[in-house]
Amino acid sequence: MPRPPRPDAAPVTAHLDHESEVAFPSAPGPHPQSPAAEPQTIRSQPDRSQPDQSQPDQSQADESQADESRTAESGAGPAGLRRAYGAGTLEADQLAPTWVEQFARWFAEAAGDHAGLGLPEANAAVFATASAAGRPSARTVLLKGFDHRGLVIYTNYTSRKGRESAENPFGSLVFPWHALQRQVVAIGALERVSRAETERYFASRPRGSQLGAWASHQSEIIESREVLDSRTAQLAERWPPGTPVPTPPFWGGVRLVPETVEFWQGRADRLHDRLRYRRSAGDEDLWVVERLSP
Ligand SMILES: Cc1cc2nc3c(=O)[nH]c(=O)nc-3n(C[C@H](O)[C@H](O)[C@H](O)COP(=O)(O)O)c2cc1C
Repeated sequence: MPRPPRPDAAPVTAHLDHESEVAFPSAPGPHPQSPAAEPQTIRSQPDRSQPDQSQPDQSQADESQADESRTAESGAGPAGLRRAYGAGTLEADQLAPTWVEQFARWFAEAAGDHAGLGLPEANAAVFATASAAGRPSARTVLLKGFDHRGLVIYTNYTSRKGRESAENPFGSLVFPWHALQRQVVAIGALERVSRAETERYFASRPRGSQLGAWASHQSEIIESREVLDSRTAQLAERWPPGTPVPTPPFWGGVRLVPETVEFWQGRADRLHDRLRYRRSAGDEDLWVVERLSP
């Protein structure tokens, strides 16, 4: 049986300061420049020149016999794309005492902190939320920090994910590190990070991303690209270079406070290793590790 990790292990803290060139921003309420946009209707026509790729290709070899790293023939469609995993194994006695130390290890490997050969956007994760009615939604976000308290992302609080995080404060973050044949799945409660923490992070962002956060009414329908560009140009005049851009009140961090964190390592024949840290029901500082069937 896996040993229970030490609950009193020293906390690991990491802040991911690098900022991508892409701005992922925000803004409140209706904007004077963006009258309710008329919906555009675009009908899609099936492309009859292409073969139907929605059906599995029965001619492909059985998955369990795939000893090639890739068995797809070009044009075989998604069912023909197949990789055999075997890059590593994961045993309970290899795990760090706490989920956060184990995450720090795997994250460093994904980001290339040791070898200097990181995966592109190793901090990208799929963030799933759900409405109060239980309707799920998911999107990619960038992890910007983690420590023993949880995993932090930044977003617009009025976006779909922002609203759902508030009305139904539970979510999941999935890190798909395909090149390492690994994934990490964290599930837990969602909370806003403190204003001071958000402001510290916002101040570290490039000016373009700061203006973008003000310019975008994230998740709302927008009339045109021009509306967004002209709004951004106005904001750039309001806060010229050299003038600090304040943190938008509708923008900030969301922390996922894990109840479970699963570490998944791909193995041959789809018999993967899955080890999950679960917060003990009796003692919230105690984590138990369980192996899950692949
Ligand atoms: C690689 C990548 C990273 C992203 N990072 C963020 C992010 O950190 N925060 C964010 O709000 N949106 C980010 N986005 C955009 C979201 O995926 C999404 O389009 C946006 O947040 C609106 O989502 P929502 O309408 O479901 O709330 C990212 C997208 C990609 C592809």
